[in-house]
This record gives sequence, C-alpha cells and structure tokens, in this order.
Amino acid sequence: MTASRIVALGHYQPPKVLTNDDLAKLVDTDDEWIRSRVGIRTRHIAVDETLVDLAAEAAQKALAASGRQAHEVDLVVVATCTAVERSPNTAAAVAARLGITAPAAYDINTVCSGFSYALATADHALRAGAATRALVIGAERMSDTIDWTDRSTCVIFGDGAGAAVVEAVPDEQAGIGPVVWGSEPAKGDAVVITGWDPTISQQGQAVFRWATTRIAPLARETCLKAGLDPSELRGFVAHQANLRIIDAIAGKLGAAPDAVIARDVVDSGNTSAASIPLALSKLVERGELRSGDPVLLFGFGGGLAYAGQVVRCP
Ligand code: UT7
Repeated sequence: MTASRIVALGHYQPPKVLTNDDLAKLVDTDDEWIRSRVGIRTRHIAVDETLVDLAAEAAQKALAASGRQAHEVDLVVVATCTAVERSPNTAAAVAARLGITAPAAYDINTVCSGFSYALATADHALRAGAATRALVIGAERMSDTIDWTDRSTCVIFGDGAGAAVVEAVPDEQAGIGPVVWGSEPAKGDAVVITGWDPTISQQGQAVFRWATTRIAPLARETCLKAGLDPSELRGFVAHQANLRIIDAIAGKLGAAPDAVIARDVVDSGNTSAASIPLALSKLVERGELRSGDPVLLFGFGGGLAYAGQVVRCP
C-alpha cells in the first residue's frame, strides 16, 4: 500500500505591508478596533505581483527545499478563489513557470478551506497511484476582491502563498491523515465574492458563530480519525481568519498547553486558501515545529465549507 507525506514547505508574501494605521487613513477605523476584534496588526498586499507570481514563488521555495527537480513533479494542485484567468488555470501557469513539463494540473476553489481540500485530493491521487510527487499550493490575491471603502472587509484580508511538496511513501511512513470535510451550502451566502470586478462581502457575525461552534468538534473528530487524541498534537494550524476564532477553537480542542497554535493572522491578515500553508511553513522555518511533529490543519469559511487533516511536519 502507498500513502503520502509532506517533504518540504515554502511560502511567499509580497513585500508591501499595510498597517492598521495605514488603513485608518482610508476608512473610519483604528488600530484598537482591528486588534481587539480581529487580532490583525499588518497584512501584505500585492502591487505588481500576479496570483501566479505569488504561487510560483512559494512553490519554487518548497521545491528547492525538497531537493527535487521540476521534472520529478507529476501533479500540481492550486487552491485559490482569486484566479483571474479561466484558462490556463493557475496550476498550469505555475507548472509552466517552474519548468514542470507534463503534470496533471488543476485548481480547486473551496475558498478558505481550499488548501486542506487540495492536500486531501493530492493525498488521494498519490495513494491511488495516479501520481508520485505533487506540488500543493494555496495562493490568493485577496486584495483584488476588496472594496477599499468598506471598513468591514478592507481591514481583514491580505495576499500571499504557501506550498508543500508531497510524495508517495510506503504506508508505515504516512504523514497525511484522513480528511474530514464537508460544507453547509444552505448558509453559502454568508461569504460572497461576486461580480465581473469581484468584491467580497460577508455576514461577519454569522460566520463567527458558525466557526466558533461547529469547527471544534470537527477538529477533534479529525484527530481521532488519525488515531490521535488532540492532547498528542504538537501544533494546530487553523485557517487564519480571526485571532478570537483561532483561540476559541484551540480552547475547545483539548490540545496540550505547550502545543504550538498558529497565530500568523496577526502579521498576515486573512489570506484565505493561502493562510494554512503560509502559517505552517513559517512555523517549520522558525523551528517552532520540528520534523515528524503531528499538526492539525483545519480550514473553514466560504461555502460554508470546511476540511482538515493531521499531518507530520517535514
Ligand atoms: O475567511 C472567511 C471566513 N470569515 C470569517 O471567518 C469571518 C468571521 N467573522 C469575524 O471575524 C468578525 O465577525 C469580523 C471581524 C468580520 C467583525 O467583527 P465583529 O466583532 O463581529 O463586528 P461587527 O460586524 O459586529 O461590527 C461591530 C461594529 C459595527 O458598528 P455598530 O453597528 O455596532 O455601530 C460595525 O459597523 O463595528 C463596526 N465596524 C468597524 N468599526 C471600526 C465594522 N468594521 C469596523 C472597522 N473599524 N474596521
């Protein structure tokens, strides 16, 4: 039997940083409101960088860290809700940029839970023998969807990308646990990105209530499905939507007091499908999570879709 594991990670954020004080010059807001309600201090905003630039930078770093060559990749999956091009899709454009010659290449849009969906589909393809080495990327230019006069959304989102190289391995080296996924489509209008010049709007309080009540039991179920009690986790990387949501879920999860809880939302804002690989890659790069550490990833948001799995750090 074959399983899969993450062998390397990479991330990229555009250099331009917007602070809360910068935003207070655009709309009626202030640093205190943003920090106390959402927990964000800064977010990175793409200026000249396209979505493909962001995704390709993160993917290139992950590939370099893996020690593999582009021609050894046979699957590219990009999770994004901000693709401008319909064809070629983002995955094909990234593959062309990196010199990956003949991969299966597709995009997935499940908004903020996209990376966990992409990782699950890559894991399933590798387990089925349909591929041997995958690049799984979460990338967003959320700034394309922002109405810069709307204070309820423009303070929240940011741009960036994170990527993982995932390889087929023998069962005993498995590093990606079973996915728990689903959605509540009847509540789909709680997060909307629509129009030719797409603009994001959300029912913030409704999503907040849903996330803080529905996600923790699903996160626990994900650990148990992986054969782990939540207290055995070394880390928890939730979708980085709001510090209060992350801490509420972490509090109910039952992780050990010394488990590492990702709080990258503080520096990066909400980068939708990019937020989980971005936060995970930074924690591994900083040595806060080590090789083999079990970490719960859990994405949730637009849809209202969710997905999560326990992974072993590369
Ligand atoms: O990733 C996609 C999934 N989305 C989420 O997970 C988002 C979940 N929801 C949230 O994170 C929070 O609901 C928000 C951060 C979006 C909003 O925080 P909140 O504590 O729920 O605020 P609210 O929407 O209830 O607004 C409270 C007040 C309102 O004023 P009034 O009506 O009480 O006078 C808003 O107009 O805060 C006002 N407000 C602001 N004030 C200063 C809204 N945005 C701002 C702002 N600065 N930027």
